Amino acid sequence: MSRKRVAVLISGRGSNMVALIEAAKAKDYPAEIAVVVSNRADAGGLLVASAAGIDTEIVDHTKFGQDRDRFESALQTVLESYRIEIVCLAGFMRLLTANFLEKWQWRILNIHPALLPDFKGLDTHRRVLEANAKIHGATVHFVVPEMDSGPIIAQAAIPIRPDDSEETLAVRVLKVEHRIYPLALKLVAEGRVQLKKNRCLIDGVPVPNVTDLAPTDPI
Ligand code: GAR
Repeated sequence: MSRKRVAVLISGRGSNMVALIEAAKAKDYPAEIAVVVSNRADAGGLLVASAAGIDTEIVDHTKFGQDRDRFESALQTVLESYRIEIVCLAGFMRLLTANFLEKWQWRILNIHPALLPDFKGLDTHRRVLEANAKIHGATVHFVVPEMDSGPIIAQAAIPIRPDDSEETLAVRVLKVEHRIYPLALKLVAEGRVQLKKNRCLIDGVPVPNVTDLAPTDPI
């Protein structure tokens, strides 16, 4: 089976991008990272991607003012030029319009630092602590026009400890992010994710909680 060509879209340091790049080094991984695209020229992840030998592109949203259609059409041109089949948003901090997302339906993934459908939006670590939640985690989902709302492909939970701070939570959540994003991309690239009534099934069964897997289980 030929490997799916993937674009990773970033706005910042790109640690999830690195997790995807690392996973794709395995010969039997079903996807290759063909390009990393950033909407910000100063995104730290661009240098990391280049150092890993991956092509990088910048589509600077500020050059398009309020014109989201033109920004997205520039983005689309880049994706087409690399013959991209799957898009992974990895800390990409721009909302995409329904018009763009329609072109990528069920082929665009996002990672969110919380257990969706709870804690959509920004500052999730602060907000879970304020809510006195006991469990936190991360979610990979298909992107739909409504923010952080698409069908869930992979999710992993972590316990919140009494002495946790935003910083300690960020570290532990990021660890599970780096585990579930390569897993979710693998499942999508292998065509093992089906949609039924707006929910994902993996090989025909509901999505498991990744924390049920032992750390040594293959992903
Ligand atoms: C990650 O925690 C990701 O889940 C989050 O931004 C961080 C990016 O880190 N994404 C969002 O909040 C999307 N709304 P990274 O650049 O090191 O991957």
